[in-house]
Amino acid sequence: MFALPETLTAGFHASEPRFGPVIQDTLPRAGFDRAEAEITTWSGYHQTPLTDLPGYARSLGLGAIHYKDEGQRFGLGSFKALGGAYAVLRVIQRTISGREGRTVGVNEILNGDYAQQISNMTMTSATDGNHGRSVAWGAQRLGAKCRIYIHSGVSPFRANALRALGADVIRIDGDYDATVAQTRVDAEEHGWMIVSDTSWPGYTQPPVDVMAGYGVMAREILRELAEPPTHVFLQGGVGGLAAAVIAVFHQEWGANAPRSIIVEPDLAPCLFASSKANAMTPVKIQEESLMAGLSCGEPSQLAWAILSQTVHGFMTIPEHLVAPTVRLLSQGCNGDPGIEAGESAVAGLIGLSCGALDRHLRNALRLDTQSRVLVIGSEGITDPEVFSAIMSGEI
Ligand SMILES: Cc1ncc(COP(=O)(O)O)c(C=O)c1O
Repeated sequence: MFALPETLTAGFHASEPRFGPVIQDTLPRAGFDRAEAEITTWSGYHQTPLTDLPGYARSLGLGAIHYKDEGQRFGLGSFKALGGAYAVLRVIQRTISGREGRTVGVNEILNGDYAQQISNMTMTSATDGNHGRSVAWGAQRLGAKCRIYIHSGVSPFRANALRALGADVIRIDGDYDATVAQTRVDAEEHGWMIVSDTSWPGYTQPPVDVMAGYGVMAREILRELAEPPTHVFLQGGVGGLAAAVIAVFHQEWGANAPRSIIVEPDLAPCLFASSKANAMTPVKIQEESLMAGLSCGEPSQLAWAILSQTVHGFMTIPEHLVAPTVRLLSQGCNGDPGIEAGESAVAGLIGLSCGALDRHLRNALRLDTQSRVLVIGSEGITDPEVFSAIMSGEI
């Protein structure tokens, strides 16, 4: 385990949830039902494992840690497989329905009735890796074209993984937020369809579908657990993952839903900054986090609407805890099974470790020996080169 106090400095900001109608207004249960009914029929769908880490829990003085391992999701390596690919299907369904003047069924799309039209459509999105993979896969499944924008910090392995799924990959100078801006300009000019995991004023439906897709993962968890966890530590990029999980848990468990804590890299703390300012607040990324999926400077507007009213605390974590945590998880802590996880996957676990081992934070987070904590291992080895550099100690 880590040594205190030098290595475990985390930022923390407590928040007072209000739980108004925001969840039902933004991510209604019917949307999660529809996404689940669709995605669970796809070839290759399997429930991902929820693994107990009793050794890790013991070393943090907690009752239990449940780790949801998304490494094998549809062979794409992360929970993002659930969102982008589903949103692609919905964008195509809405477009063809609009042209036909009636609601076209998903089955009509899947059985090829509109293959010619779909082959002329182009799906586009910005990504730091995982969301783009999902969009590219979704476009490929249905026969649409795909253009994915990446920033200068996205690794060559991740760019090639996008190309392998048939996407044209456009690398631009700048950070993730700059790629989002460029995607919008180019899509507008060429009539391409944006399938983004982040939302902005006037652009909401695909991100709602993306988050509805993530609900499949949250529902798997709640069906597997005999009782609600006391806490959930959720890593934040633009906030879509966290908003979807919190929404599903509240729809199912109401007042018994776990206390939720958002964890971000201290290099990309846009949700933390928004919480402190009590208003959506972008931050400028000065340096890319090793946690590539979390290196986002602007919250998703819809996700923020939910998180601002439902979260109990926001944390930031330092970079130097990422590689040791990936190694610890892979070796197995105190006799736990080893789990291979990517850099963004361990953020929740790092936030939890910082919270549990610091006396002040432990009190603020209400963590104790009875706590049963859920963390989401949101990706497996999505970049083998980075993973082996971490394992060899090079990173
Ligand atoms: C592996 C992984 N975990 C977590 C996240 C964060 O998700 P969100 O941007 O919806 O907050 C991402 C985003 O790309 C990711 O790739």
